[in-house]
Amino acid sequence: MILVTGGAGFIGSNFVLDWLGQPDGVAPNPEPLINLDALTYAGNLENLAGLKGDSRHIFVHGSIGDLDLITRLLAEYQPRAVINFAAESHVDRSIHGPEDFIQTNIVGTFHLLEAARSYWQDLDPERKDHFRFLHVSTDEVYGSLAKDDPAFAETNRYEPNSPYSASKAASDHLVRAYHHTYGLPVLTTNCSNNYGPYHFPEKLIPLVIHNALAGKPLPIYGDGQQIRDWLYVKDHCAAIRRVLEAGKLGEVYNIGGWNEKANLDVVHTLCAILDELSPRADGHSYRTQITFVTDRPGHDRRYAIDSTKLERELGWKPAETFETGIRKTVLWYLDNQAWVNNVTSGAYRDWLGKQYGETA
Ligand code: NAD
Ligand code: DAU
Repeated sequence: MILVTGGAGFIGSNFVLDWLGQPDGVAPNPEPLINLDALTYAGNLENLAGLKGDSRHIFVHGSIGDLDLITRLLAEYQPRAVINFAAESHVDRSIHGPEDFIQTNIVGTFHLLEAARSYWQDLDPERKDHFRFLHVSTDEVYGSLAKDDPAFAETNRYEPNSPYSASKAASDHLVRAYHHTYGLPVLTTNCSNNYGPYHFPEKLIPLVIHNALAGKPLPIYGDGQQIRDWLYVKDHCAAIRRVLEAGKLGEVYNIGGWNEKANLDVVHTLCAILDELSPRADGHSYRTQITFVTDRPGHDRRYAIDSTKLERELGWKPAETFETGIRKTVLWYLDNQAWVNNVTSGAYRDWLGKQYGETA
């Protein structure tokens, strides 16, 4: 039994589905999983609809900030590991309102660590030895790279630039401190930008696919030359499983896809795939919908991950290239328009108005 937090979000739900062996022929796993999720705007039980009736998936609606609840869950289910995906994750939202990021990413992680610490301390020696607390974090904690800087290694200094990345950096420090001070057996992963199924359409790739098909503007911040290092979400999930299985206690592992792309190039690629798979009725390219908009404040120029340590020490490698992964992703969105329509109704529209104003 493992406890996963945030398992109804984008990466968490992909992880839960893969763990239980539902999609893509991954072998079924008999080990059950408790999924604790607060179901914020980003959490969606529809992502897990395929698990209905599966007794290996125990969903609990609640927050990582609820110390009593987590203490009860740990006592009742006695998991061998906690994997912490739960977070507020969108940089632009953290700029509009940082409070939730501080509460969930910092205070919530602190409460989760506290509950895990007292649970772990009372385990019998063998179970104590095998217990793991795996914290899922981001490359954004390292700040921004100049054009020719080497990619982020685990030894890079933390230089977070947004309220989101600062809150994730703080949570990473707490996780580290719980290892050094109390001996809690922790592992931390810092991953680059993910993309794939169930990605909420506030983020660049699903937003562009959604807006393109809806005939709306494709908003590019600033000059569109900011660089991100893209990783297909299922490769991230595989890396987490590998780190959980074989990672060295107290260590940090960077996870990345060796796929650095400028935002404008990503959007051009999406337009080209959509032009081929779902052409506009008027015969024009989706590129004509590209609109340059005001830049994100404090926008990091470039991220790039050096995942040599993970590859060399634990033998992980991404299975997808950007070209194969992005095509799968577009196909998934074309095949799952009902999912997109559900998540983009209601409160999503308020967010678009707040972030993009007239161009929404
Ligand atoms: P997401 O926003 O899609 O999902 C977050 C999930 O956490 C949602 O299901 C939400 O309901 C849940 N949640 C929020 N607050 C909670 C709370 N207090 N208690 C319990 N659940 C809560 O995020 P994501 O993109 O899937 O990211 C998951 C994790 O991976 C985050 O920690 C993020 O920082 C990290 N990460 C994301 C990326 C990326 O590209 N998306 C890359 C690297 C690391
Ligand atoms: O690097 C890992 C991080 O990747 C994760 O920690 C975050 O949780 C995740 O949201 C993601 O952060 P980014 O800010 O890089 O992702 P986003 O999809 O918001 O933006 C990707 C790039 O595209 C970024 O340079 C901003 C730009 N962008 C984004 C949006 C939403 C645009 O140009 N226009 C847009 O409308």
